Amino acid sequence: MTTTMGRPSPLNSRERPTFAPRSEPRDRLQPGQPVIEARDFRFSYGPKLTLKGIDLAIPEQAVTAIIGPSGCGKSTFLRSINRLNELIPGTRFEGDIVLEGRSIYAPGTDVVGLRQRIGMVFQRPNPFPKSIYDNVAYGPVMNALVPKRDIPDLVEQCLRQAALWDEVKDRLDEPGTRLSGGQQQRLCIARALGNRPQVLLMDEPCSALDPLATQRVEELIVQLKAMYTIVIVTHNMQQAARVSDFTGFFDAGELVEFGPTGLVFTSPVQERTEAYITGRFG
Ligand SMILES: Nc1ncnc2c1ncn2[C@@H]1O[C@H](COP(=O)(O)OP(=O)(O)OP(=O)(O)O)[C@@H](O)[C@H]1O
Ligand SMILES: [Mg+2]
Repeated sequence: MTTTMGRPSPLNSRERPTFAPRSEPRDRLQPGQPVIEARDFRFSYGPKLTLKGIDLAIPEQAVTAIIGPSGCGKSTFLRSINRLNELIPGTRFEGDIVLEGRSIYAPGTDVVGLRQRIGMVFQRPNPFPKSIYDNVAYGPVMNALVPKRDIPDLVEQCLRQAALWDEVKDRLDEPGTRLSGGQQQRLCIARALGNRPQVLLMDEPCSALDPLATQRVEELIVQLKAMYTIVIVTHNMQQAARVSDFTGFFDAGELVEFGPTGLVFTSPVQERTEAYITGRFG
């Protein structure tokens, strides 16, 4: 790659490549086609290279799991996909990440539009200090994604998709923070869906949840892939095996192996992958 290390240029209001509005279903890729591609993507927070040249194609309308030991760069990679890392001073990148063939790091890219297309759910549920309703309505209202009169329907649809509607339909005015942890995480998923994203990034979305809440969220992930492309970071091998179609194993800033989950878990090509998934990693 001949790209130079650098930070994206400041937004140029004249020419702002925008990823919004999201492409309509009829314009979408076929399931399985690459929607996001990392191309020799390198990233560092300072002098030390954290991601050492990642080449990875993430298929449309499928669940891709990212696994690997703590500190190997999974969250860094996920955050690079919707440009959350560049807010940290001293960070640098090289190479590229493209969404449907267009660089998300192109100068002047509309980052707000990008984050609307690529939503994120974090490890700890982080509802806004607002009502359940407003948590979901906020994004589509701010981004004027649908006419105002359609917002209540959109809120209901997202809460249904997040398998939360029946539990909250009679208490939509209550603060989101009053829900249980598992409900809050499903509210955060509903909030992300409110932005009508194409891709959903999930960084250990179940690690703060009990087994029952984890099961609900896992079922939800499997259902959501009919409409969304999902990338999930998880430390839970069983979870990766249960919910994902493809798995990428990261180690020390490198993508060691990538392939269909069944193959990666039953007959990995790389010894490092086998050692990790069988718990012999050292
Ligand atoms: N904000 C930051 N500033 C400096 N270094 C960071 C920052 N965030 C992460 N790192 C470093 O980058 C490396 C990769 O971190 P990252 O959080 O991506 O790992 P991870 O694979 O998600 O780990 P875990 O499984 O523990 O969440 C680590 O060495 C970490 O210390
Ligand atoms: Mg992490």
